[in-house]
Amino acid sequence: MTSASRVVATALLALAGAAGAEEIKPGSAFLSPQMQRQQEDEARNPGWLWVEQGEELFSRRDGVAPTCASCHADPKRSLRGAAARYPQVDAAGGKLINLEGRIEQCRVERQKQPAFGYESQELLGLTAYVASLSQGVPLSVSTEGAAKPYYEAGKSFYERRQGQLNLACTQCHDGLVGQKLRGDTISYGIGTGFPAYRLEWNGLGSLHRRLRACSLGVRATQFDYGSDEYLALELYLAVRARGLPVEAPGLRR
Ligand code: HEC
Ligand code: HEC
Repeated sequence: MTSASRVVATALLALAGAAGAEEIKPGSAFLSPQMQRQQEDEARNPGWLWVEQGEELFSRRDGVAPTCASCHADPKRSLRGAAARYPQVDAAGGKLINLEGRIEQCRVERQKQPAFGYESQELLGLTAYVASLSQGVPLSVSTEGAAKPYYEAGKSFYERRQGQLNLACTQCHDGLVGQKLRGDTISYGIGTGFPAYRLEWNGLGSLHRRLRACSLGVRATQFDYGSDEYLALELYLAVRARGLPVEAPGLRR
């Protein structure tokens, strides 16, 4: 706990001196040079194994149901850029959904198959595959109209102190950027590298899994995968990251 209280003290100092609008950099910019190179190398970034599985699943026939590919022909072209526009408000349901949510929706409503489930290997693979098709495309989520209240909720979540350590996201991911914490270098806390392969997980994980880890880190409530709270937060993080390219699948410690 001593290191935690030191973090709090430093966060307050840093916030007091924060001058506002800083240039937000992707999470990969805070990796060691070796890990940066490994992330970029498809042969050495294990996240690409999930991308390959997702690509295979995309065209796999499951009984009489149409495959993803039956409706999304030439996905390299037709789905390029899609991931950069999520989360977004679903025109039909009026609710905020992320890329995982859109894929599950296609699975259930259009393929008429049982949902894969958040954090299942199938959904992770498909999400990583679809996200990889947008590599290099700058994030361009909307906060207009029906998305606005979600954006506001995400922003206030990001700024609210929480948990036993009474820390807000902003205290670490704005106030302490570049500092070391448990062997990591604190980044701007955005989601452009997710789903990401994390060495600590020994596998691929969603952005919501990473958010749950940060909530646990400050001893705050861990919200469910796909919860409204994390969806709103995801939208706010995507707004912070506007203009930065999709990098999924990322590689993390
Ligand atoms: C006590 C400091 C601390 C707090 C508070 C905190 N985080 Fe983190 N967070 C970290 C550390 C350390 C990492 C791993 C290194 C990194 O990527 O920043 C991390 C990683 C992340 C990442 C992954 C970034 C990447 O590219 O891999 C995201 C996203 C994130 N945090 C979002 C949040 C959000 C949203 C909150 C508020 C709910 C939050 N964090 C609260 C310390 C914190
Ligand atoms: C029967 C046809 C059909 C099937 C099968 C189908 N989809 Fe879709 N998909 C659609 C339609 C139509 C939309 C547009 C929905 C909208 O924008 O409201 C869509 C939207 C999407 C989007 C969002 C595109 C964007 O630009 O926002 C993604 C990603 C996606 N589907 C992935 C998948 C995956 C992965 C599968 C297989 C698990 C799948 N779809 C199966 C018809 C289908």
